[in-house]
Amino acid sequence: MDPSGAAVQAEAAALRESAAACPVLLPGDVPGVVITRHRELRDFLADPAVAKNARHFAAFQRGEIPAQWQLNAFALVSGMTTADGDDHRRLRGLATKAFTPRRVAAMRPWIEKLTGDLLAELPGRRDADGVVDLRRWFAYPLPMGVICELLGVDTAYRDRLHGLTHRMVSTSTTAAEAMAAQVGIHEVLAQVVADRRAAPGEDLTSALIAVRGGGHGPDGEGDTEGDAREETEGESGRDAGHGREQDALPGGDRGSAPERLSDDELAGTLLLMIVAGHETTLNLITNAVRALCAHPEQLALVLAGEVTWDAVVEETLRWDSPVANFPFRYPTADLVVDGVTVPRGTPVLAGYAAAGRDPREYGQDAGRFDVTRPAARHLAFGHGAHYCLGAPLARLEAVIALRNLYRAYPGLRLAVPDATLPPLPGFIGNSVGELPVRLG
Ligand code: HEM
Repeated sequence: MDPSGAAVQAEAAALRESAAACPVLLPGDVPGVVITRHRELRDFLADPAVAKNARHFAAFQRGEIPAQWQLNAFALVSGMTTADGDDHRRLRGLATKAFTPRRVAAMRPWIEKLTGDLLAELPGRRDADGVVDLRRWFAYPLPMGVICELLGVDTAYRDRLHGLTHRMVSTSTTAAEAMAAQVGIHEVLAQVVADRRAAPGEDLTSALIAVRGGGHGPDGEGDTEGDAREETEGESGRDAGHGREQDALPGGDRGSAPERLSDDELAGTLLLMIVAGHETTLNLITNAVRALCAHPEQLALVLAGEVTWDAVVEETLRWDSPVANFPFRYPTADLVVDGVTVPRGTPVLAGYAAAGRDPREYGQDAGRFDVTRPAARHLAFGHGAHYCLGAPLARLEAVIALRNLYRAYPGLRLAVPDATLPPLPGFIGNSVGELPVRLG
């Protein structure tokens, strides 16, 4: 497989563009499919016979997926995103306790302040031609700053975490690079946990450490939970039962597990928050500005106060979903999608970008960006038990970002033709790699 090759890029673009066929074969060397239509995707995401834990992946069970499979970096993260049933409820419940609406609401003044600072710095970011890459200097540092503030991650780690996240989510990197990036993120997060253990604060990491039940002392030492964790991991290895990579699989349903986070789960939760918490919102802000640049008549409606910024954000989420296709799920029984049988254990991706443009759901003009469209029930934040935990935060950030950006620079426009903007590599993220603009 040449993951950065033209064939994968073309397939990724086709996946983004159309819900005409469903399911669609996954590009790459692992046989899998993508659900590309709204209704089918909604049903699929809510289907109790569909699992997220990779122990249900038929090829893993047969030992056919090499330990270096590129997407192991995601499939093997230990945390709520790879957990099912009671195990998922426990992990999500613990994270939710620490990620309260009050904590999100309390971030508002801080987000406004960071937004103002970044906007004030933009003129100084212009190159010799007066062009500034808005993705790099605004759309990225805002959500990254917010999630790091929320998690209590020191500013010194941020760019490193962003680079590693990008390598992890970019399917143009090799398997070894993606895994190395995940290891790198874990190393940084181990340091973050150590920092917060030494000096707990009001941040989410400190709250999760407290939830974990060990606000002090090195991991596992004199800590019965450490023993419990070893037992649990052994169990999941036995469940999967084949080879080294299966030993690394995150645990399956563990029903009566205690209301605690193991060290692995704490690390997995933090990793998920960092990765999910910034790369996605970065794409949302980028895609919204890009869409408004391409549709100045709609921007005019918003600036005239006839349409809200919330409507812009929702239409962007539908029309240009920040996540193109993600994450893997595995039917635990043969699944029929639009007359096509998807065998049990097949990796299936949610095709959020294609589903957002499904004419069966949004009408024949589904492919048109229209901020006056009555609020569409898009699936860009997922659906069902794994619905995005950060959706309120992402919406808050995007609205604050856009409102203040256009207040400061109402004449902002693209510096190059839209068609020349480079799409993100791979088929997970859905955005462009840079957004060169003139501030007006
Ligand atoms: C889950 C999208 C921002 C944290 C998800 C899922 C989607 C998604 C589609 C569902 C995955 C699945 O089906 O399994 C987005 C988009 C965002 C965004 C489009 C921004 C525009 C955030 C932020 C956070 C976050 C800011 C902050 C912490 C999570 C977590 C989950 C999740 C923890 C896993 C929930 C679970 O498995 O129960 N997100 N997300 N996301 N998201 Fe977001």
